[in-house]
Amino acid sequence: LAERQGLLVGAAVDLAALYDPLEPDYARLLAREFNLVVAENAMKWASLSNERGQYSFTGADALVRFARQHGQRLRGHTLIWHEQLPAWVRGGTFSREAMLAVMQEHIQAVAGHFRGQVAYWDVVNEAVSDRGGLRETPFLRAVGPDYLEHAFRFARAADPQAKLFYNDYGADGMGAKSDEIYALLKALKAKGVPIDGVGFQAHLDSTFSPQQARMRENLQRFADLGLEVHITELDVQLKGAGSREERLEAQARVYAEVLAACRAVRGCTAVTLWGFTDAHSWRAAAEPLIFDPLYRPKPAYEALLRAL
Ligand code: XIL
Repeated sequence: LAERQGLLVGAAVDLAALYDPLEPDYARLLAREFNLVVAENAMKWASLSNERGQYSFTGADALVRFARQHGQRLRGHTLIWHEQLPAWVRGGTFSREAMLAVMQEHIQAVAGHFRGQVAYWDVVNEAVSDRGGLRETPFLRAVGPDYLEHAFRFARAADPQAKLFYNDYGADGMGAKSDEIYALLKALKAKGVPIDGVGFQAHLDSTFSPQQARMRENLQRFADLGLEVHITELDVQLKGAGSREERLEAQARVYAEVLAACRAVRGCTAVTLWGFTDAHSWRAAAEPLIFDPLYRPKPAYEALLRAL
């Protein structure tokens, strides 16, 4: 259904589950239901490397093959982020020049390795603080605020075909954090920094209202900057009063409203879920996904179908 309308519907992939012979449904549903995949962890810096200059791409390469075999597009996640870093980057002391060299080497190694195969890269993830301003990270500390533009330039050089994204959470609707990200990306664009898109993680819960949060209006203002818009990590934790059935219906409504917000915005081209089965989720206890742990569709799955 999505494919016919030019919309990508993606899922984050747990590589251990994908290759678990006891869980054949995982690969079967992933191949059947999604036209885009992203590694939940396998392309992060610490997953690829512990030592400077030493990379192991085995897990990530397996996902690239899976995507190719099933005609799926790939999102790359993520090049520059303050979490899941090797200890020598997280704890090291670097001059501006030294850190720029570290970033350039990493981006060249990773985006270069996957060159031509990753359609969209999350180049910088979560750079904006919840309290306003840029987040204190090893990159900000060593380089200063222009580390972002350098990251995008390094990424463009490493893989000129990939569309380059800024990705963040807590900015799905109108609000102080999304205002801040809007100003940041507008300034980067005005400077000619090679940024093509913005990702909204959308880690939500079943009491959230995309309509009240004015999500469509928020996505639209970023699209109006000339950016491609993706929902990148959608999941909806079960929460709130009422029966379990009521919470599952509320969850379904959130999924459908997020999809509707994206569909209402020209330039919003992909909705990616942070997993698909509650058997494999970073927030499994809150059952945030669209298939249950036995791979049976939940009301949220049916609601997405209806919203397409
Ligand atoms: C999470 C993964 O889901 C977990 O398995 C891992 O332990 C921590 O990271 N924002 C992001 C994602 O950009 O990379 C995070 O993924 C969730 C929050």
